[in-house]
Amino acid sequence: MDKLVIRGGNPLVGTVRVSGAKNAALPAMAAALLTDEPVILENIPQVRDIVTERNLLAAMGAEVELGYGRAQHRTTISCSNLVNEEAAYDLVRTMRASTLVLGPLVARSGHARVSLPGGCAIGARPIDLHIKGLEKLGARITQEHGYIDARADRLKGARIVFEKITVTGTEDLLMAATLAEGETLLENCACEPEVVDLAELLIKMGARIAGAGTRTIRVQGVEKLNGARHRIIPDRIEAGTFIVAAALTGGDLTVAACDPQHLGALLSKLDECGVHVATTPDSVRIVSGGPLKAADVVTEEYPGFPTDMQAQYMALATQAEGASLITENIFENRYMHAQELVRMGANIKIDGRRAVVRGKTPLSGAAVLASDLRASASLVLAALVADGETIIDRVYHLDRGYERIEEKLRSAGAQIRRIGELIPRRAPAAVESD
Ligand code: EPU
Repeated sequence: MDKLVIRGGNPLVGTVRVSGAKNAALPAMAAALLTDEPVILENIPQVRDIVTERNLLAAMGAEVELGYGRAQHRTTISCSNLVNEEAAYDLVRTMRASTLVLGPLVARSGHARVSLPGGCAIGARPIDLHIKGLEKLGARITQEHGYIDARADRLKGARIVFEKITVTGTEDLLMAATLAEGETLLENCACEPEVVDLAELLIKMGARIAGAGTRTIRVQGVEKLNGARHRIIPDRIEAGTFIVAAALTGGDLTVAACDPQHLGALLSKLDECGVHVATTPDSVRIVSGGPLKAADVVTEEYPGFPTDMQAQYMALATQAEGASLITENIFENRYMHAQELVRMGANIKIDGRRAVVRGKTPLSGAAVLASDLRASASLVLAALVADGETIIDRVYHLDRGYERIEEKLRSAGAQIRRIGELIPRRAPAAVESD
């Protein structure tokens, strides 16, 4: 298993480029299941979860061509010849987003068999709302042997009110509704930019969708969808991670190829912390000045402060003057990074969904363990300001969602390198998913 070795102390200076959004690329790839024509996706990040999704689609008979050289971020998916409507446990357990194939498969083929994802390091994360929604659209759903089996001759439009806002749930049902007969009204939807990006792709494919990016989405079902070409939006969480890294290390960093409009909650929180930024339509420059100030954070659905930035923000809070209260509202167990930060010298007290971080405490390098994707990012950030060397184990979590993170950070002046084991062990057996 690879490890990252980071020596702290260097401010990040220069420019880093943000990759395409993993959480927009995953539903976009699943959307290719809705048509027998090729879907060409640009700006696909080269991360582990994309490889998992490619394997998932390929196992169903899809032709998935990953570009190389100058076209390395292009993926062409052709689902003209689906041979198997199953998402097997082996793949689903490594990536929960695999459940995104459920809606499109049942809508296009009339049948889907998808493994239930099981537990996860950041919370229980059930998919009951995906299932209830598909039932409303007329799918007959049974569960046995750890699998969901969904069948329908043709889905029928319906009114679905999500009891709770769910990002992939909104995406799954949005995809299913595009091929349903008649009108579907989705209420209490997620408004995340990734949902909007998916809707834009679906509209290019011939879907009739109105309201994506608001809480109510209206879909007029069509008989058939066509192929399309689409560019995935920049990864707002990767951008946010670099922005916090720059603020934390007291650097002067330009985060390029991002969309500052997707970063509103984070940038206004950083402003409260005393971090000043200059934005252009596609970049954010962080010029560090005075000391960091503590500020409270509550994670919420978009446009609120993203849960996917909570761990990185916690690393920043350890270096801010005063106490920061962090409230995690989306997932019930998303503080696994806190105990590792404490081992590095942070003062953090957890009480249920709340964490109090008292700063500023000096951090010192230590051997730490990454527990999930964003927790890993938080440890990288802490290591960048820690005294001495930090060794982060289980870097495979980071590789699921960050493209070449150590190269990008190194190009901005960080002392970071990856080491592998001399005798590689077998791949980790059970890996939870984000
Ligand atoms: N929920 C239910 N029932 C459902 C679905 C969700 O109770 O059927 C609950 C969840 O347990 C959670 C809340 O609703 O408490 C919100 O979960 P949501 O469904 O929105 O999360 P998700 O769609 O599984 C996506 C991202 C996550 C991100 C969350 C929240 C993808 C592939 N994943 O997950 O990304 O944290 O939305 O914004 O889009 C990451 O990238 O590190 C990551 C974990």
